[in-house]
Amino acid sequence: MAGRRPVNGRSLPDLVTDYGGRLPDAPPPPDRGNGRRDAALLRASAPARGHARAGHGWSPVPAPLVVYRASTAEIGGIFPLLTAEGLPPTGALMGYDSVTAGGFYVDPVGWVLKQIVTNPNLIFFGKPGQGKSTTVKAFLLRMMLFNARVLVAGDVKGEYEPLCRAVGVEPIALGLGLPARINPLDLGPLAQGWDRLAAAERGTRAALIFARWVVLLKALIGVRGVRATPSDENAIATVLAELSGWSRGDGRLRTVTIPEVHHALSRPTPELADACRYSGVREMVDATRQSTDALGTLVRGALAGLFDSATTIRLDWRAPIQSLSLRRLDDLGDEVVGVALACVNSWSRAMTDLRRPGEITIVVRDEVWRQMRLGVGAVQSLDSDLRLSRNDGEIQIIVAHKPSDLLSVGAAGSQEVAIAKDMMALCDTKVMFAQDPKIADELRELVGLNDVSRDWVCGWARQRTGRAVWMVGDRLFKVTTVRTPVEAPIFDTNTALVAESPP
Ligand SMILES: Nc1ncnc2c1ncn2[C@@H]1O[C@H](COP(=O)(O)OP(=O)(O)OP(=O)(O)O)[C@@H](O)[C@H]1O
Ligand SMILES: [Mg+2]
Repeated sequence: MAGRRPVNGRSLPDLVTDYGGRLPDAPPPPDRGNGRRDAALLRASAPARGHARAGHGWSPVPAPLVVYRASTAEIGGIFPLLTAEGLPPTGALMGYDSVTAGGFYVDPVGWVLKQIVTNPNLIFFGKPGQGKSTTVKAFLLRMMLFNARVLVAGDVKGEYEPLCRAVGVEPIALGLGLPARINPLDLGPLAQGWDRLAAAERGTRAALIFARWVVLLKALIGVRGVRATPSDENAIATVLAELSGWSRGDGRLRTVTIPEVHHALSRPTPELADACRYSGVREMVDATRQSTDALGTLVRGALAGLFDSATTIRLDWRAPIQSLSLRRLDDLGDEVVGVALACVNSWSRAMTDLRRPGEITIVVRDEVWRQMRLGVGAVQSLDSDLRLSRNDGEIQIIVAHKPSDLLSVGAAGSQEVAIAKDMMALCDTKVMFAQDPKIADELRELVGLNDVSRDWVCGWARQRTGRAVWMVGDRLFKVTTVRTPVEAPIFDTNTALVAESPP
């Protein structure tokens, strides 16, 4: 600055000097060598993606910013500003929420704890082949990561078998000529340590056991179109108390089989007739004939060789999954399958009584419509299985086709319909796969769908398998289940069918 001379007049240093001041000396010219060192110090110490060395790199993800221009009225509906009533990201990641594109997690027990739902049970509806069982299987497999124990209470199509084998478990096959037998009147874990129980506790547990037995026997009698009367029910309860030894009053309880019950009803002793308040054996036989004969035909038919003697299997609760496969019964007709489902469901309930607290148990009842078709008793039996499941960490999954599966058992407004509606309330999470418009209307009424979600069920969900409207408590979600490439062959029912069909 000091050396610079203006073209005209005095320079700035001259001017300052004239007034008694002095400008500082000009700085020395920069040393090139030093300058390079300073520049090196200031240079970024790492390239944009870090050093290409183990533990030194990083991969920055630049925010994908896009400019939107819209009025405030529109902006609320533009992704990603749209907000959903999100569920906590805990539990099984099932796929994605098609409204927000976020992950959709299913955690029924967590939902109960957070008061999003009142119970952890799930009910699935959907036309055949829409992906109900696939979603259930995905849920089971992914919940196994959280140590959940699964019991498939009646696998009618044998479609859970590949899933069992994938986790190293051999499913239990029920079929004529096979060694596995189930006594639906097993005492179950409620009878564990019976001798050490206090008398009051014994009484409570015996009441639970008897209630289950009576409901099941009534359901079985109903299969033949016979409705057990209150007197029949009383006779059955008395027979059960006699045969199990409970009526002797010494607190002991032994397992009974269905043929034993039938035998006692068809040939009652004078004491039994008296205990049932009949004037004599003849009167008891005549009064209970219809129910006794209905039970008799099942003992000789659908129950024979499967559910008519002591249980020969044991559920392994340390295994991640246990499945009772009924595939081999499918050829024997709908009645046999329905009866088998009723027996297996009732037995499974007994087996899940008194599980260890803190453990999550999932009980799957797929193809439940086959049991519902047996009549009112069968619906009552299922209802009580749900209602009486005493385990806090137990998740019940019911898979049906359409609401009328539950409602067809009785005329509208009847007690049966009330039971069916009640049962819906016992499953606070409803998963609705594609339906035809007429059925979607039924769902709207029963489940309380609004117009928009009703259209999702009969429009959006029908465009692709695996899509479903999830109603979690009173929140609605549009969810697509995603299978990983590893899972697809395990879940795929069609692959299983193709693999099994003869060449
Ligand atoms: N999320 C999905 N992604 C891709 N394909 C799927 C999905 N879910 C199901 N599928 C396909 O649809 C087929 C039928 O699925 P699934 O057996 O689960 O239906 P479903 O509703 O249980 O039928 P049904 O009522 O007859 O038992 C599967 O074998 C699979 O090929
Ligand atoms: Mg299915």
